[in-house]
Amino acid sequence: MILQEQIEAQLDHTLSGTDFDFLGEKYEGKVRDNYTKNGKRILITTDKLSAFDRIITTIPFKGQILNQTTQFWFETTKHIIGSHYIDAPDPNVVYAEECEPLPIEMVVRGYITGSTGTSLWYNYSQGERHIYGLDFPDGLEKNQKLPEPIITPTTKAPKGHHDEKITAAEIVEQGLLSQEDYDYLARKTVELYLHGVEHCAKQGVILVDTKYEFGRNANGEIVLIDEIHTPDSSRFWIAETYEEKLAAGEEPDNINKEFLRLWLANQGYMGDGEMPEITPDIRVQTAMKYIEAYEMITGEEFQPVGGDTIERMEANLRDYFA
Ligand SMILES: Nc1ncnc2c1ncn2[C@@H]1O[C@H](COP(=O)(O)OP(=O)(O)O)[C@@H](O)[C@H]1O
Ligand SMILES: [Mg+2]
Repeated sequence: MILQEQIEAQLDHTLSGTDFDFLGEKYEGKVRDNYTKNGKRILITTDKLSAFDRIITTIPFKGQILNQTTQFWFETTKHIIGSHYIDAPDPNVVYAEECEPLPIEMVVRGYITGSTGTSLWYNYSQGERHIYGLDFPDGLEKNQKLPEPIITPTTKAPKGHHDEKITAAEIVEQGLLSQEDYDYLARKTVELYLHGVEHCAKQGVILVDTKYEFGRNANGEIVLIDEIHTPDSSRFWIAETYEEKLAAGEEPDNINKEFLRLWLANQGYMGDGEMPEITPDIRVQTAMKYIEAYEMITGEEFQPVGGDTIERMEANLRDYFA
């Protein structure tokens, strides 16, 4: 088990960005630095934490955790669909096939929950029964399991814009995807989700909802890109306390980035105005959450690679491409 001191020692070495001129053209996502070179993509997962559509802080070991969680799932879901993954030259880095990203995100939900204005629960609690092009019965409770998983796709907005909900029919009408491709993504989305649910259940974890991104590789095949079943792209609840929390009308215990979002909300911050100071203590606690998530999900002990992240990564990448 990782010691609190190990996390504290890493507070000053977190990775908030890179600038490697030897790696090719750089594109900066919210959390990943991407470099492209010769039809390949180098994805560097930083320690940045985004919430309310902005970068809040950095969390020790978060990049390594997300990257290695994603690798775990690419490996264990390749019988369902292939991914862009080629290799991992560093704990924070994936070397991948450059793909043509498909212009939608496939969100899949097994429970009716959420707190933001686009969430299923918010819309339902406002009396809507036709949401995301789907019909919902009366009488559902917050955080209740849905009779079957539902897909609620969104557009993939350019950086700085919000993803918008879109229906399957609109995706095809607007020519974003052919019907055949949409059907394929929908089928793979449900298969991936159910596989994740089953695996997580064995670990005492509920995979509540998640989103997948797909791309077309150089051979024209559709593969998984970006990240999969990480605490950033998914909501996870602790199975053991779920029923009692639901019965008591309380929020389930979670192991995702909801933790810091809820902490901020409790300080009165909802995304506008001045942000409360994120103390070292809260960054350490958040790191603990991410580590707990990693260990519960993968069933493996987390092996932190500490020290100067940039220096290590540069050495590994120079080596790899030499
Ligand atoms: N293999 C790939 N080919 C092309 N684009 C990819 C690939 N893998 C990931 N991407 C894209 O790279 C970006 C990854 O950086 P990230 O920080 O996750 O961005 P975002 O802010 O969009 O979430 C995303 O826009 C994702 O769609
Ligand atoms: Mg992303």
